[in-house]
Amino acid sequence: MSTLELNAIDKSYGPLRVAEKIDLSVEAGSRTAIVGPSGSGKTTLLRMIAGFEFPDRGRISLDGKVLFDAPAAVPAHQRRIGYVPQDGALFPHMSIAANIGFGLSDNNAGKPQRVAELMELVELDARMLKSWPHELSGGQQQRVALARALAQRPTLMLLDEPFSALDTGLRTSIRKVVEQVLAETGVTSILVTHDQSEALSFADQLAVMRKGKLVQVGRPRDLYLYPSDEEAARFLGDAIIVPARLESGWANCELGQIPIFDRTRTGNAQIMLRPEQLQLRDTVTCENGSDGCLATVTESDFGGHASLLTLQLPSAPLDMHRGARVIQVRSLSIHAPKVGSTVFLTVMGHAHIL
Ligand SMILES: Nc1ncnc2c1ncn2[C@@H]1O[C@H](COP(=O)(O)OP(=O)(O)OP(=O)(O)O)[C@@H](O)[C@H]1O
Ligand SMILES: [Mg+2]
Repeated sequence: MSTLELNAIDKSYGPLRVAEKIDLSVEAGSRTAIVGPSGSGKTTLLRMIAGFEFPDRGRISLDGKVLFDAPAAVPAHQRRIGYVPQDGALFPHMSIAANIGFGLSDNNAGKPQRVAELMELVELDARMLKSWPHELSGGQQQRVALARALAQRPTLMLLDEPFSALDTGLRTSIRKVVEQVLAETGVTSILVTHDQSEALSFADQLAVMRKGKLVQVGRPRDLYLYPSDEEAARFLGDAIIVPARLESGWANCELGQIPIFDRTRTGNAQIMLRPEQLQLRDTVTCENGSDGCLATVTESDFGGHASLLTLQLPSAPLDMHRGARVIQVRSLSIHAPKVGSTVFLTVMGHAHIL
């Protein structure tokens, strides 16, 4: 059974449509990530699920219980949904202990123990309980916000870009803590993030949001390899998009002849490859007759373990005038060919038709 069901959710602020016919199912115990450009409506969607905003139309249910079906709405505090807002938003005038215990009743004899348990769960030192939020680092504050959201044992946890203010190293370690806590507590979760690699690694289900619509929902791997359009392709990682002519299960393009899954497709189309599908070899080692193409390295940007290479392809036939001609690929810096050298490009795997 699905834990969370959204059906045909619509929401506008005046003339601005921020949610349009949104349908989404989130399975019990699973992790969903929502990605999308700034202003696409991600926070608004989470706030509607949490009960801080109300849709104009549509239905929201959790574990079979209707939370919203206009005009009926279950109040936010009765939804058993934990919410870590985009800015963490701890109460500045309350101690850490008071922040974490905010939603727990004062009559609850076990409250101090529950707060101590939560501190341990998010790996914070119990000595910080008496501190004030401004005395904690950004990463520590995020953990307090997570502990506060977990206090009432929610069935669903909503995380709105909880790691965005943290530097790379801290981000990775806090993310691991959060993933561990979610796994230990078995809570269903939805993470909003701008970071594609975070979304791809966190999620069982990934949703791409654009201008108030969920343009694609599925397994991260499927969305990465088979995006619905060019924008979704570029949003989830580097993409090489070139024009091709399709015939009998092959895409003929500037990069050579690449297999496609759909043998019935014919005619002109745009195809997409992920850069890791391209292999660069020096021209001396390439076997005669192997399918691929020659390219010249025109730029090389050193980026630590990998370098970003700009490659110039030879002139394409006239009917491919919208061709890529210039493509960018990453190569391990240690093996990166020099600027000015000619390389032989081969493609691994299938091309995806956009
Ligand atoms: N209370 C409000 N009143 C009017 N407009 C609003 C309100 N809340 C959000 N908006 C507008 O709705 C749109 C979607 O906002 P939202 O915060 O949901 O986007 P987002 O996808 O979370 O963006 P970001 O990635 O920048 O956090 C924006 O254009 C925003 O200005
Ligand atoms: Mg937002």
